[in-house]
This record gives sequence, C-alpha cells and structure tokens, in this order.
Amino acid sequence: MRAIAGTDQLFVTTLPDPEPEPTDVVIDVVAAGVNRADLLQRAGHYPPPPGAVDTLGLEVSGRISAVGRHVSDWSIGDEVCALLAGGGYAEKVAVPAVQVLPKPLGVDLISAAALPEVACTVASNLFDTAHLDNGELLLIHGGSSGIGTHATQVAHALGIRVAVTARTPDKLARCQDLGADILIDYSTEDFVQVVRDSGGADVILDIMGAAYLERNVKALRTGGRLVIIGMQGGIKAELPIGTLLSKRATVHGTMLRSRPVEGVGSKAEVVASTRRVTWPLIDEGRVRPIVDSTFPLDDVEAAHARLDSGGAIGKVLLTMG
Ligand SMILES: NC(=O)c1ccc[n+]([C@@H]2O[C@H](COP(=O)([O-])OP(=O)(O)OC[C@H]3O[C@@H](n4cnc5c(N)ncnc54)[C@H](OP(=O)(O)O)[C@@H]3O)[C@@H](O)[C@H]2O)c1
Repeated sequence: MRAIAGTDQLFVTTLPDPEPEPTDVVIDVVAAGVNRADLLQRAGHYPPPPGAVDTLGLEVSGRISAVGRHVSDWSIGDEVCALLAGGGYAEKVAVPAVQVLPKPLGVDLISAAALPEVACTVASNLFDTAHLDNGELLLIHGGSSGIGTHATQVAHALGIRVAVTARTPDKLARCQDLGADILIDYSTEDFVQVVRDSGGADVILDIMGAAYLERNVKALRTGGRLVIIGMQGGIKAELPIGTLLSKRATVHGTMLRSRPVEGVGSKAEVVASTRRVTWPLIDEGRVRPIVDSTFPLDDVEAAHARLDSGGAIGKVLLTMG
C-alpha cells in the first residue's frame, strides 16, 4: 500500500498491507485528517505512544476491508471513520474495532475524516471531564481551529452559551455562523475582561497552556473548570492557587492519544460516549464537519503548510483517491 514516510521531508512510500489483530478491523482509507499533533510529531515534539506505529495520521474515514476473528460489530464494506494512535496517512490502516464509528447520516465519506479526533476530544473534555451543563458559559480558545469549530457547534446545539477567541474578524464571523455568542479578537481585546463582563466562564477549553494559565483562572467564575488540551503557549507557568481556591475552581489536563485502547479512561470509553452524545447531533444535521481544504496524498507537504499557515478554518484533509 502507499503511505507517507519521512520527517524533514514527507514522501510517499510503499509499505506492506496491515493485517488485523483478532480485535481489529482494516479500513481502506478514503481520507485522513491532518492535525496540529502531526506537525508536532514531525518536529520531534510528540512521539507516538508505546506500541503505536510511527507513521503520521490520527484519524481516517473509509470502508472496512477486513475484520479480526473476534470482531462482531462491523462488517466488510461498512462505511466508517476511526480514531487512531497513528498510521492514518496510508491507503490502509488496522485499528481496534472499539475505535471505529459509523459514517454519520448525511455526511459524505471524505468529510467524515474530519470528525473522529475533534468529536472525541470535545465530547470527552467538555462532558466527561468538565461536566459542562445547559445554560453555562463555555470559553473556547482558538474558535476557528478544527477543535474550536466543532466544539462551538456541539455546545450551541446543546443550549450552552459560547465565547470564542480568534485572531481576525473573518475568523470570528465564521465562529458566529457556527453558533458562538461572544466573539473575542485576542489580538486587540482582553479575553479575561470580556468573559468577566458576562459573569465569567463555567468551563474553558484551552489550547494555549502556559501562556494563558493565569488569565484563564482569572476568567473562571466560582466553581469553574479549566480543561487544558494544548501546549501552543508553552508548558511551564505559575498557577494562581489563591484565586483557584477562592473560586473553588479546578484545572484538568487530558491527552486523547495516550489513552489505553480499553479500560477506565480508554479510547473505547471516549468513542462510546462520543457516539452517544455527538453522533445524533451530526445525524440530525445540527453539527457538521467543517472542512477547510482537501489535498491528495502526494501533496502532503502542501496540506501541512496549509495547517501551519494559520489561515485554515476547520480541518485540513488528505484524500487517497
Ligand atoms: N489533548 C488532546 O487530546 C488534543 C486533541 C486534539 C487537539 N489538541 C490540541 O488542540 C489544539 C487545536 O488543534 P487543531 O488540530 O484544531 O489545531 P488548528 O486547527 O491548527 O488550530 C490551532 C488554533 O490555535 C489558535 N491560536 C493560536 N494562537 C492563539 C492565541 N494566542 N489565542 C487563542 N488561539 C490561538 C489559532 O487561532 P488563530 O488563527 O485565530 O490565531 C488556531 O485556531 C492544538 O493545540 C492541539 O494540539 C489536543
């Protein structure tokens, strides 16, 4: 099969077709999502977890072409998308059956590749970790990102007020189209002040890490929950413990890729709760995959450059056809 290899320069190579373990399925890949984590892995900052293949690619869509002998939930020919620990930039990938989701109704098979990573990240962090509730205020940093465009739609569909940060008026306008109520241009406005003027955030979904830690805690209201999922602003900062305690607030950190396949806190649990919470919203058309651009596998460098440019709104995809 054709697959992407390399780090400094990515290139198409030929690898042996994967064989399914007894609890795996093999997917003939139609499209693969490009994630910021892929750029980090390529730069040597985000190594694959033990046991995972070292080729890039955390999510795919496609058709099942082989089924392990212990798998009963999926059949050859099923149209699916899947969360991976790696290996998605390839024509075929083997994945534990518990990490597979059905292609949602009304979503084409290519666009379905834009869903697993964002949907699983958003559902697990907002609901399983932060227990975000109806009527609360959610602050999402990077509202126009792959994660942000999805989180905004899901929260809006569930009656949650959404504030977003982004860098330009056109990105903020797109966030508003997706359901954001409070638009904050972080290059000209102080998000702490804007959010406090609305009573403070009940939950913050943060991708900036160290750079925003102190301000995020200030922006929380009493009982607020800060969930850090990214380190784009660094990994070391001082936590204002006095403010945290007086607000009875909590700080969480999570990473999807390093979760075990099964058991407590596993990818299997996350995929199951995402299917329960988010898939009906997508099936009903209330949440859509937001695809910025698609590139053929041979143009993988251009796909990475597009995500790296900061111009993308939503997801960048690679297609195998
Ligand atoms: N922990 C996990 O399990 C997990 C899973 C998935 C993703 N993530 C993380 O989530 C983040 C988003 O992932 P993605 O694939 O959706 O990336 P992406 O589409 O490339 O988005 C990156 C975003 O960062 C925003 N940004 C940059 N500087 C900012 C600042 N100072 N304030 C607010 N926003 C800022 C950019 O917005 P502007 O263009 O407006 O600046 C852009 O929207 C990444 O950090 C990724 O590593 C974590």
